[in-house]
Amino acid sequence: MAVREILKMGDSRLLRQAQPVKAFDTDELHLLVSDLIDTMLSAQGAGLAAPQIGVDLQVVIFGTNERNPRYPDAPPVPRTVLINPAITPLAVDGSTGVIAELEDWEGCLSVPGLRGVVSRFARIYYSGFDQYGDPLERTVDGFHARVVQHECDHLQGMLYLMRIRDFRRFGFTSVLFPGLDVAQDD
Ligand code: NI
Repeated sequence: MAVREILKMGDSRLLRQAQPVKAFDTDELHLLVSDLIDTMLSAQGAGLAAPQIGVDLQVVIFGTNERNPRYPDAPPVPRTVLINPAITPLAVDGSTGVIAELEDWEGCLSVPGLRGVVSRFARIYYSGFDQYGDPLERTVDGFHARVVQHECDHLQGMLYLMRIRDFRRFGFTSVLFPGLDVAQDD
């Protein structure tokens, strides 16, 4: 168990297509998940993806089971280990079939000190596996859906900045949200 260094934007390892995990319930995978959790908690992150600590595998973690001081208005998301994920956008209203998107502020531990408004699917179905190889599937919306999309983007070499459409709604967290209780520089 260890708090690992979080790679910052500009490091080319954040731009790779992560490889799928082929072996589950191994010492290596359990150690990776443990390090991701320690690192996320240390940084008060809402989630963390393996590429952010330089590991080229499709592993993300998110959720804290309690409110996050970096995102005080966000509802709790259950602590989740998600491996080899797949995401399908869903219609918010099944009868119309319209896939809705929602805008909200995002930050990223690999882009410390900044926030920007990003549009994400409002409602998604996601599936994958936990570190033991047990399948996981959920239909979620709101902040939970946003966190999953943000973290899974890291597995495609995508940072949230690449999805910002209006850079007038982008800036330093300390200026945008001066009262926010942020322990780290993010
Ligand atoms: Ni991120």
